[in-house]
Amino acid sequence: MRDASAVLPPSVATDSTLGFASSGTSPGAAPRVHLLGAGKVGRAFLEQVQGAGLRVVAVSDSGATVHARDGLDPARVVRHKAAGGALRDLPGAEPLPELLALRLVPGDVVVDATATAARTGEGALQRARLILREGRSLACAAKDALALGAAELLALAPGRLGVDAALGGTGRRLLAERAALAAHTRALTLVASVSTTVILGALERGASLAEALDGARRQGYLEGDPTLDLDGSDAACKLAIVVGLLFGVANDPATIAREDLRHLDLERVRWRARHGRTTRLVAEAERGGPLRVHYAELARTSPLAAPPDRVLYGYDQGRGQLRLHVGLGVGPRATAAALLEDVRRLARQEVAP
Ligand SMILES: NC(=O)c1ccc[n+]([C@@H]2O[C@H](COP(=O)([O-])OP(=O)(O)OC[C@H]3O[C@@H](n4cnc5c(N)ncnc54)[C@H](OP(=O)(O)O)[C@@H]3O)[C@@H](O)[C@H]2O)c1
Repeated sequence: MRDASAVLPPSVATDSTLGFASSGTSPGAAPRVHLLGAGKVGRAFLEQVQGAGLRVVAVSDSGATVHARDGLDPARVVRHKAAGGALRDLPGAEPLPELLALRLVPGDVVVDATATAARTGEGALQRARLILREGRSLACAAKDALALGAAELLALAPGRLGVDAALGGTGRRLLAERAALAAHTRALTLVASVSTTVILGALERGASLAEALDGARRQGYLEGDPTLDLDGSDAACKLAIVVGLLFGVANDPATIAREDLRHLDLERVRWRARHGRTTRLVAEAERGGPLRVHYAELARTSPLAAPPDRVLYGYDQGRGQLRLHVGLGVGPRATAAALLEDVRRLARQEVAP
């Protein structure tokens, strides 16, 4: 393995002879984190992890893994990636296939901040199984593995799976209340897409679709390729995750019926706004029923008429009782904060009830 000193903190010596060989945790050493994905969320995580009592021993992007047993310097990785660099150009990087890198790099907690659309969900699920079967913990911002197999993964490793960041900051509460919610929830209503809420707000104020999309992109709510948000796939993934966790049924998000924002009747959206109503992208499912993602009319005063800075996960308990979880884990920084909190919890090996 090449020298990793360029991404090591100045106080840490490089042990280049160890390379990717596994090593045990020395007593009292900080828990070891392997971060997958160094995009917007991954970089925000690396910024926040400093001083958190964790040791980032590896970071992988789509092309390579950089690793140092005693810990990398997160700030240097952030600078390199933020400048458009690839990890393969850093000293200490190895262009290993991700499954091999995961086998070779020792770590206590793996953080999945990879692009949700970057691979098939089945590949992501396979990787998550491998991580958990090897006795590690997994904290996810990415949604594809969870969408296909949240219930399976949780059963495989209760207490070693973090879903807070993938569910907009509502995942920890969902896991904490899971037994009661699973027993009593009849239907789910998720208003889980901040980007579409922002776009709908602009449309209600009279913007054209192009103007609304531009505004959302400028404010950082939309990706360069916004397809997953606009065609409802992102909301479908979140719905599949919650259905899996509460109803124990796995659904491929690609098969969930969903409405595309680009085909929305804008006049109807504006008419509702003029008449004390509003529109939200709603992902819903009844227990045992079909799943769907669509643009629903809501009263402005509805508890589900989420403002653009939060997501709402509604759990219908029957007899008019709606349990509502509010999530503020929105945008890269807040998502990274939710990830970090999950990693801390997992590193302490706390078991969610
Ligand atoms: N952005 C948000 O506000 C937000 C909020 C909640 C959840 N999320 C989820 O968080 C994840 C990351 O989002 P993001 O905005 O940071 O995306 P992003 O900026 O597109 O970054 C994705 C990163 O994943 C890397 N990657 C892709 N495939 C990989 C693989 N097989 N192994 C290792 N790394 C891989 C990419 O590598 P390269 O750098 O080489 O391309 C890139 O560094 C997504 O799944 C997203 O759905 C994002």
